[in-house]
Amino acid sequence: MTEENITTTGAGAPVASDQHSQSVGADGVIPLHDAYLVEKLAQFNREKVPERIVHAKGGGAFGTLTVTGDVSKYTRASLFQPGAVTDMLARFSTVAGEQGSPDTWRDPRGFALKFYTDEGNYDLVGNNTPVFFIRDGIKFPDFIHSQKRLPGTHLRDHDMQWDFWTLQPETAHQVTWLMGDRGLPASWRMMDGFGSHTYQWIAADGSKYWVKYHFKTQQGNEILTQADADRIAGEDADFHIRDLSEAIERGDFPTWKLSVQVMPYDDAATYRFNPFDLTKVWPHSDYPLIEVGTMELNRNPENYFAQIEQATFAPSNFVPGIAASPDKMLLARIFSYADAHRYRVGTNHAQLPVNMPKNPVHSYSKDGAARYHFDSASTPVYAPNTVGGPAGSAEAHGDDSGWQSDGVLVRSAATLHPEDDDFGQAGTLVREVMDDEQRDRLVGNIVGHVSKVTRPDLLERVFEYWTNVDADLGARVRAGVTPSAPGSNEDPASVGILQ
Ligand code: HEM
Repeated sequence: MTEENITTTGAGAPVASDQHSQSVGADGVIPLHDAYLVEKLAQFNREKVPERIVHAKGGGAFGTLTVTGDVSKYTRASLFQPGAVTDMLARFSTVAGEQGSPDTWRDPRGFALKFYTDEGNYDLVGNNTPVFFIRDGIKFPDFIHSQKRLPGTHLRDHDMQWDFWTLQPETAHQVTWLMGDRGLPASWRMMDGFGSHTYQWIAADGSKYWVKYHFKTQQGNEILTQADADRIAGEDADFHIRDLSEAIERGDFPTWKLSVQVMPYDDAATYRFNPFDLTKVWPHSDYPLIEVGTMELNRNPENYFAQIEQATFAPSNFVPGIAASPDKMLLARIFSYADAHRYRVGTNHAQLPVNMPKNPVHSYSKDGAARYHFDSASTPVYAPNTVGGPAGSAEAHGDDSGWQSDGVLVRSAATLHPEDDDFGQAGTLVREVMDDEQRDRLVGNIVGHVSKVTRPDLLERVFEYWTNVDADLGARVRAGVTPSAPGSNEDPASVGILQ
């Protein structure tokens, strides 16, 4: 055995045995000063960090973004300049399930990206659908509570889900996506991704644009039927993690084509839909897709915990040339994620290799648990200073990334634009985007899901909700649903997985 192969303590000293604790005689008591045994058991007790409060079950891989188009007149961001190649990390996930839950539960899929650019990390934390359930972040904890588990039985509950959805008609567009084919992608490789929100791009000349990101899978959008998803959930709960990992292992690297929709800054005020409402899309006929480049995933993580579980993606991580928009959901998320990371991974999470930018960090933040990097003793710890410390630069930051905003401080829904209503785009999705087979599957999926609702008054609201999306769809759902007996949705055997 070479010296390198000897087990050591965390402090690097060789240990005598991995197999036997010390004891007083072979059958005797174990002394507290068997420090290696104590270290091993104590570290084991601390192996886990809290799971993500949402999107806990997931997997990911590293890759590159290669720019093939020219969007330089819309943004000065270095990662989007012609020919740029940027290292990146992607993490895919379900939303409501816990870490051990099946990959094939019906749910939106997370599509979180971290680009290690030469001007800092840019994180784009989206989903496999272009819209979301709600349009104000103040509702997010309530929405998630309705998707998670009952406090008493710890079971997921269809009444709770449909109670929330039907009381919040703005959910209709996303629930239609969820109950349709996109709620069950065949694999993470075979689904599209979206930035979902409207973001701001700023060009080198200072001009501003509103943008939406689209990642089109080059593997083709493939789906699972509900029956397949149910079967796979039992046979292989990690089906999607395995699929991605094995594809990369055999050199079959998945790729996505990145395009953007670009809206001139001044169009926003008069556009037919509120362009900052996350429950709405911009029809491509209004703002066509513009090619940006190709994202390829080509490297599996070597250590799941260090590189995927401890990865922290934050919508607040912008780089020069990219900024926020007045979307209230985005603004809430800009607070929420970095706060979650300080709690879940620790205040110095950005110093972990997977989260560290490739360019140097010059920051006046200091200390905190598990601090790893430090500056030389002569580096000043306050700003401004006259001893050579770093200083902020409006020029390097790049631009004025604000927007016009005035008015009285209020609590109120965003301003309605001429064609804004909660059901309109959901109806268009059903009537104009889906074909007959997709519509049939949509009806089947809704009927299967709604059949687990137990409250008659709630069922009536569910029928009304789908009738508001589309009259024919509403009638088909009503005709198809056989109400469950009260309490049946709390029977594990009958619920199995949520359909
Ligand atoms: C994860 C909050 C809306 C996509 C998370 C996490 C929090 C959170 C706290 C866990 C972060 C962590 O522990 O690392 C919120 C809030 C929202 C919101 C407050 C509304 C205001 C959205 C929307 C999307 C989204 C609209 C997509 C368009 C994701 C994804 C993850 C995530 C993909 C997993 C990131 C990863 O893989 O680490 N969210 N979220 N969330 N969220 Fe949201």
